[in-house]
Amino acid sequence: MSYLLMKTSRRQFLKLTAAASALPFASMASSASAVNKPIVISTWNFGKQANEEAWKILSAGGKALDAVEAGARVPEGDPKETSVGLGGLPDRDGRVTLDACIMDEQGNIGSVACLEHIVHPVSVARKVMEKTPHVMLVGEGALQFALANGFKKEKLLTKESEKAWKEWLKEKKYKPVANIENHDTIGIVALDAQGNLSGACTTSGMAYKMRGRVGDSPIIGAGLYVDNEVGAATSTGVGEEVIRIVGCHLVVELMRQGNSPEQACKMAVERIIRKNPDKAKAIQVGFLALSKSGEYGAYCLQKGFTYAVHDSATNKLFDASSIY
Ligand code: GLY
Repeated sequence: MSYLLMKTSRRQFLKLTAAASALPFASMASSASAVNKPIVISTWNFGKQANEEAWKILSAGGKALDAVEAGARVPEGDPKETSVGLGGLPDRDGRVTLDACIMDEQGNIGSVACLEHIVHPVSVARKVMEKTPHVMLVGEGALQFALANGFKKEKLLTKESEKAWKEWLKEKKYKPVANIENHDTIGIVALDAQGNLSGACTTSGMAYKMRGRVGDSPIIGAGLYVDNEVGAATSTGVGEEVIRIVGCHLVVELMRQGNSPEQACKMAVERIIRKNPDKAKAIQVGFLALSKSGEYGAYCLQKGFTYAVHDSATNKLFDASSIY
């Protein structure tokens, strides 16, 4: 009998069996390969390197919280990644503004939005969680807090991102593009050897957004949610649509009701379509979820959303199933 089945009550077992019989073989295989802890999963191709960093902590018996922060910092610090941290594409005024959040197994949360000049907003979010009586700091206040806590003020707009922005200025088309350059936000969730879940999410947001625009990524419940009894979820894509359905909280609640991570992600994607059917055809939104027992799954609107999984056996990329 597998670890998952031993740990599962008869009622849950019957639900899982029924769910598994409705899933295609590939989904069953991915679920069955992830029954062990620790495990870390994250969005898009850059999730693979992020997972490698997180795995160093998880495989040494470290905390999921430390692992997700370490993982999220990888694309944040990479100037070639144009959707997160350093090198992120700017807003329409040419300013790089970053959003990030973090959540631990006890329900502690920290978040920053519209933060400028700091390469690692996820670490500022963690400091908000650990050092303030608040859960979210934005804009100038978030920057002041970061500087007061030892973060360095840096120029985030790289030559390449500036060039892309100047190119955009020629037409100034304000249209979210699905799978822009095959990646977007990094959302990362992990289950550590102690069986605790944590998550983090970080992005430079929609390219060429209006000044002050904040997406789903720093909004707990929208871009990230962790419930240590049930599971964790994170999202990527057009944040406005994720916020509208409080997407990641929804995914976790659907898992609580007995749905597998993949089923829960699919149901959240379907909710987005129901709320805004015409818009949903033209945009990308993807959800990625991990259950308390280490089962994982993802679902998205459009083909092209990839996610990375690192457990004791492997660090692999998967294509999420899509509606369209
Ligand atoms: N999901 C990232 C954003 O909409 O900003």
